[in-house]
Amino acid sequence: MVNRDLGKMRKNYGLQQLNRSELAADPIEQFKKWFEEAKKSDIYEPNAMALATVDEKNRPCCRIVLLKGIDEGFIFYTNYLSRKGQHLGSNASAAATFWWDRLERQVRIEGAVEKVQPETSDAYFLSRPVGSQISAIASPQSQRVESYEQLLNLKKSVDEFKLVRPEYWGGYRIIPRRVEFWQGRENRLHDRFDYSKDQNSGAWCIQRLAP
Ligand SMILES: Cc1cc2nc3c(=O)[nH]c(=O)nc-3n(C[C@H](O)[C@H](O)[C@H](O)COP(=O)(O)O)c2cc1C
Repeated sequence: MVNRDLGKMRKNYGLQQLNRSELAADPIEQFKKWFEEAKKSDIYEPNAMALATVDEKNRPCCRIVLLKGIDEGFIFYTNYLSRKGQHLGSNASAAATFWWDRLERQVRIEGAVEKVQPETSDAYFLSRPVGSQISAIASPQSQRVESYEQLLNLKKSVDEFKLVRPEYWGGYRIIPRRVEFWQGRENRLHDRFDYSKDQNSGAWCIQRLAP
């Protein structure tokens, strides 16, 4: 029954098209343009992205994180000792994917990952609500805990009058090497434009890919 339903689940796309002539020369500029449109549409968390890393045996692992900044790369914040933090410590590469269903758009980003400057992480940490700061300090992200009570006790042990960003929490920046913009089209004949960076010249090359 479930499989029959799954087989029948099908949406048709065709809201818009993406033309080569309207693309920015730089994928970060193109991303900003699309992100502004995503913010204006009825998407609950337009900055949520699936983030893939690989472990020391090259096994992939994926989870959602929130995009929190765009400069020369795409910035997210997390616990540096978490599972993803360990993966990035042994292989500093990641891929991130956005799916903006209301716009029938997907963006895929691949690149090298670096930690942001400590001052950048400090500034973002302090901009967060106090409760989130306390949880970030208290939570040994990705480690086994006995119970929810244990988490509450860890939270209680944080002095809320002395909140400083712990060294184990901060930002990462994905510096794009490849970025793809995908626009859903009729009959699955979607538009795909792939930006890849020439490693010598640093220039971006844009190609249309088959869907
Ligand atoms: C909508 C959403 C947003 C999230 N944002 C973040 C985030 O910005 N940073 C983060 O560390 N985890 C975030 N998480 C939790 C992660 O998905 C994940 O559970 C956590 O980072 C531990 O992953 P890891 O064990 O692979 O390191 C978010 C989860 C969801 C569903």
